[in-house]
Amino acid sequence: MFLWGTATAAYQIEGATGEDGRGASIWDTFSHEPGRTSRGQTGDVACDHYHRWPEDVALMAGLGVNAYRFSIAWPRVQPLGSGQVNAPGLDFYERLVDALLGIGIQPVPTLFHWDLPQALEERGGWLDRDVCERFAGYAAVTAERLADRVPLWITLNEPFVHMAYGYATGVHAPGRALLTGALPAAHHQLLGHGLAVQALRAAGASQVALTNNCTPVWPASQEEPDVRAADAYDILHNRLFNDPVLLGKYPDLSAYTAELDFIREGDLATIATPLDALGVNYYNPTRIAAPTGDALPFDDAGVSGYPTTAFGWPVVPDGLRELLTGLKARYGTALPPILITENGCSQQDVPAEDGTIDDAARVDFLDRHISAMREAMGEGVDVRGYFVWSLLDNFEWAEGYDQRFGLVHVDFDTQRRTPKRSYHWFAEFLRGQNTDT
Ligand code: FCB
Repeated sequence: MFLWGTATAAYQIEGATGEDGRGASIWDTFSHEPGRTSRGQTGDVACDHYHRWPEDVALMAGLGVNAYRFSIAWPRVQPLGSGQVNAPGLDFYERLVDALLGIGIQPVPTLFHWDLPQALEERGGWLDRDVCERFAGYAAVTAERLADRVPLWITLNEPFVHMAYGYATGVHAPGRALLTGALPAAHHQLLGHGLAVQALRAAGASQVALTNNCTPVWPASQEEPDVRAADAYDILHNRLFNDPVLLGKYPDLSAYTAELDFIREGDLATIATPLDALGVNYYNPTRIAAPTGDALPFDDAGVSGYPTTAFGWPVVPDGLRELLTGLKARYGTALPPILITENGCSQQDVPAEDGTIDDAARVDFLDRHISAMREAMGEGVDVRGYFVWSLLDNFEWAEGYDQRFGLVHVDFDTQRRTPKRSYHWFAEFLRGQNTDT
């Protein structure tokens, strides 16, 4: 069955950050620090999904999706990141899972979508190797409760973005700006992933995936310095996270770090534990030029000549086809089936006088990206699912509530949900699908 779904993440939608024994996460801490997020916004309430989830499940039923990708908040399950398990946290996800199954929607949980328990940040976050074992422990207790009903699990969401924004540049939690000193946070996330795959399988999970953010990298010119910089970017964004998982080895990182002593014997074998699928999040290609400074080995030259989303991200549907066929060309038989675990766009969606929201550009975006995915499938790429980011407008990290990605509009003053035109379009589209193809 081809999975057609929508995606969300715990901190972006749940709110209720202090309820039922949930511990603090790095995003609670970070978003409450002055100057970290747009207009100081936080996920304290977000979409209030923790209380309104039945309404959100009903919205998915109306949409006609057969899958829902959401994330589990580690600090709800283990408030301190290890040891004591908070039963009400697991109860919440169990109720959600059972409600989804009851209406024929396959739950696809992600275990880590950036909301590390604050107690673990105080021990060094993902720079601390011990976090890997703790992540596997959390995976085990969660799967012990749910794997009898949940076949497909995702370990991490976008370890690249968490490393780059959280540890290299500091625009996301935990707000560290270590530049290439962030590399241990990549390795430890990947090692935690590998250990979690094993823990999930031991607890009965039948399928396990990792979700990577992948981007086609375009050199700004064919001049050698630009091509070399593009290659460096491709290594740090794409290959650093796909090669060890799929091939059991890292790309050559010697240009970026003098010390690789955080990689220990046996780690790569754990990281390369076979997967049932690779989750791919696609938003846009990246155009790279030779560096003008010496902090990083590349400059982001920006993609021009395409329409842009409200975020300013270029809209390049064919980039998805390029990405998927490129993954197949690079990894060949080592590439497992692919799930597009996120794709979507932000817009300034303002309700009209009559309350309707005509997000025609989002309809066009989704239509063209689904077509590009199908072209790649026609070229032999084994894609098994597509999830729209996102079901609801939500807390878009450092951008707060200013970037709206939802098929459903949320009025953050009243929590009123209003399906946009794209919701109705996707529902109509799904009615026309044979879900086996
Ligand atoms: C991805 C994140 C997701 C959301 C979208 C817009 O990088 O995984 O949480 O913020 O971007």
